[in-house]
Amino acid sequence: MKREQWGTRAGFILAAVGSAIGLGNIWRFPYMAYENGGGAFLIPYLFAMITAGIPFMILEFTLGHKMRGSSPVVFSKLNTKFEWLGWFQVLIAAVIAVYYVAVIGWAISYLSFSFTQSWGADTKAFFFSEYLQLGDNSPTNLGSWQSQIAIPMAIAWAITFAAVFSGIKGGIERASKIMMPLLFIMVLALIGRVLFLPGAVEGLNYLFTPDFSKLADPKVWSAAYGQIFFTLSVGFAIMLAYSSYLPEKSDINNNACMTVLINCGFSMTAGVLIFSILGYMAAEQGKAVTDVAGAGVGLAFVTLPAAINLLPIPYILGPLFFLALVVAGLSSHISIIEAVTSALMDKLKLTRKAAASVVCGIGFAVSMAFATNGGLLLLDLVDYFINNVALLASCLIELVIVGWLVKLSDIREHANKLSEFSVGNWFELCIRFLSPVMLAVITTTNLLNTLADGYGGYAQEELMLLGWGLVGAMLVVGIVVNTASKPAAEGA
Ligand code: ALA
Repeated sequence: MKREQWGTRAGFILAAVGSAIGLGNIWRFPYMAYENGGGAFLIPYLFAMITAGIPFMILEFTLGHKMRGSSPVVFSKLNTKFEWLGWFQVLIAAVIAVYYVAVIGWAISYLSFSFTQSWGADTKAFFFSEYLQLGDNSPTNLGSWQSQIAIPMAIAWAITFAAVFSGIKGGIERASKIMMPLLFIMVLALIGRVLFLPGAVEGLNYLFTPDFSKLADPKVWSAAYGQIFFTLSVGFAIMLAYSSYLPEKSDINNNACMTVLINCGFSMTAGVLIFSILGYMAAEQGKAVTDVAGAGVGLAFVTLPAAINLLPIPYILGPLFFLALVVAGLSSHISIIEAVTSALMDKLKLTRKAAASVVCGIGFAVSMAFATNGGLLLLDLVDYFINNVALLASCLIELVIVGWLVKLSDIREHANKLSEFSVGNWFELCIRFLSPVMLAVITTTNLLNTLADGYGGYAQEELMLLGWGLVGAMLVVGIVVNTASKPAAEGA
């Protein structure tokens, strides 16, 4: 059967940008920047973007285009022994998909609350106690099922399912063409208002003033690299799948650079938006910016609602913010599910409709674990291990394979042959030396630190089961599928 194709170049770019721009930009980037010293974070972030993000995007667009298949097919075609990495990446996508949709669900709920700011004055108590109903729970003691979280999650699943089920051109491309312009307009409208609020500049100063002493902290570098891979949707099967639907004639280098720059530009814009609001809030309350913002997940669901309470026309700015979060999240969730769906289509020869139904059906059922009292804790723990252990390791192994075990010059030539501008030696330098060295140091440091100190105060059994155990199981499944079956490439 002929592989599906994007209808237009703009359609592909909007879909790739739609995948890249997501909760990672609006929900995760600001709190990553906040937790890692504000402006200090931007230096490793931009360094990672240039030396790892852009080369990685070119690499994945080229591999997807050249091999015409999902991640397992791509790696299997490089060498049948590498297929397991493709499945490991597909599993990373599958795990991200089931908790990512929970955050979209929260955002859908908050969109409905925002019209009347029904979260009230104590937004922290509202989020944790009233909405999530988090009590004496833990990641292994999830409590009971919460319909107020499950119903919006079901809505999100329905939209994702409709897009993936309807195909590349008729579903994903069409959805991206509506969602992305809508998202840009909403964010620009929000910025246009909040940038002129009193105190906004103080917030921006926090975001943009670098604290060079933080650069000595490996955690800041790790956070920056993890954020770059997550935000660009590389290393977990998505961009390989998306670029496998590119037409024969496609300007790879240009498309890749555009996707990275639009995505990271958007993150900065979202950072400006959030920190302007924080600056305003600090000024209103006579506090410092660092004293108003809660870190972590709370930034979007605790601090922002509190700030919206203080904004002029909150019944317009509040819904605009949460609708932007929902739209950004959905267009990424669609791509995460497509990464898994396309792998099943390639491997099991399922039709798109059957594969999408299986993936979304199972995904929906598993994601219900996050619609519980302790869902937030489960999400926090799994997100940490997936991003700081599995995703970084996956990217490192991908770099070692393409940089050292196959002919990287063939990949570079393929990209250059099709592109308006060519990538030079720096591309190979980044892929073979700079990025793997950085990633090896970061991944090893992360592994050692997590082994020694655990994470987030969770119990050892929880870390063993839902952290190390989960990542280990994903690896084992990848290897078993690789060894037990005929190569995915044969079927492609
Ligand atoms: N790239 C997507 C995001 O940043 C997954 O949310």
